[in-house]
Amino acid sequence: MNFDLSEEQIAIRDAARDFAETEIAPTAVERDLNGEFPKDIIAKLGELGFMGMMVSPDWGGAGMDTLSYVLAIEEISKVDASVGVIMSVNNSLVCYGLEKWGTDELKEKYLKPLASGKMLGAFCLSEPEAGSDATQQRTEAVLEGDHYVVNGMKNWITNGTQADVYFLQAMTDKAKGYKGISTFIIEKNSEGIEVGKKEDKLGIRSSDTCTLGLNNVKVPKENILGEEGIGFKIAMSTLNGGRIGVAAQALGIAQASLEASIKYSKQRKAFDSTISNLQAIQFKLADMATNIEASRLLIYQAALNKDNGKSYIKEASMGKLLASQAAVNCALEAIQIHGGYGYVREYLVERFLRDSKITQIYEGTSEIQKMVIARELLKG
Ligand code: CAA
Repeated sequence: MNFDLSEEQIAIRDAARDFAETEIAPTAVERDLNGEFPKDIIAKLGELGFMGMMVSPDWGGAGMDTLSYVLAIEEISKVDASVGVIMSVNNSLVCYGLEKWGTDELKEKYLKPLASGKMLGAFCLSEPEAGSDATQQRTEAVLEGDHYVVNGMKNWITNGTQADVYFLQAMTDKAKGYKGISTFIIEKNSEGIEVGKKEDKLGIRSSDTCTLGLNNVKVPKENILGEEGIGFKIAMSTLNGGRIGVAAQALGIAQASLEASIKYSKQRKAFDSTISNLQAIQFKLADMATNIEASRLLIYQAALNKDNGKSYIKEASMGKLLASQAAVNCALEAIQIHGGYGYVREYLVERFLRDSKITQIYEGTSEIQKMVIARELLKG
């Protein structure tokens, strides 16, 4: 498999790196501290085509490939993983599903503004009693004439308070189990939407996570994606791509931890030398770099499979599993290398650790990724 980047992919990576360093880095520490959503940054990312990277230009997107998307998410997440997840959810969970299953009318109305950054989207699958076991949806949508009436509760909604539209799964036929789940596009300003308080999180604090109540929300019947009953399939297929995004986010955190560790170890002196000369530090750097490179190859493989129309379920889950583990381990080692300085805010690596943990949880925990990988190995 050839992972040489094309000139275009290198240009996209460099543009994302430049944007991250000049536009995101200056406010990252403060936004993390205050839990402040990066509204202006997201608007600028939209103007640059980073909010609908893989969407066709016909629908307002940038028409790029998945590998370019991975490169951009990694660069952005190296500087601020909060921005990485906001971008990832809009790109791979909301825009992807809408482009694949939406009607032209829905694409005109919602995909164009979502892909160009004029609107923001959120993906609403999890519920208080349907997390890893996502088939157990309690939210219900009942068809009444020309609209559905939706009632229920969603939680852990990334972009929840800031989003303009929700990509939401609900039961249209309880008796059919997961085959009775359908997907809807719901506008945030619909009557009956109750946006809950923003969660006070350990990490990715500048991103926005909340609960969402739906009380007799009227949704036009044309806002269903595809047809009734295919919502679980849509959610799972969408999450396969989403997992590539989260894996790239984790890769960014791991890479940032390594780069900070290399820089610090070349400056910090102990025992008459810089600590980079100590084998104890060198072994840590070697392990970090090896795990990062292995993760990167798996993620690139998943991205290429997706772009080449091959199955990428297993590769996406493997990439997420390994990269999220690398992110947590690299951030921990970065703190160890920095010693006491790693434990205080001034040196950033403590944020890398706080931001890394969620990559082992959202869009399927590491345990769910193992389940998905094993099922792919055993099927057939
Ligand atoms: N891709 C495509 N289809 C899939 C799939 C996948 N990865 N996984 C399952 N399916 C399909 C199956 O083929 C099956 O369909 P058919 O009957 O037509 O064949 C159907 O879905 C049911 O599958 P299972 O029988 O395997 O169902 P299960 O209940 O045993 O397992 C699960 C399903 C894999 C555990 C699934 O519930 C899952 O992935 N859970 C994790 C949910 C998750 O990732 N949540 C993240 C929340 S969103 C989030 O975090 C976003 C955010 O804001 C950041």
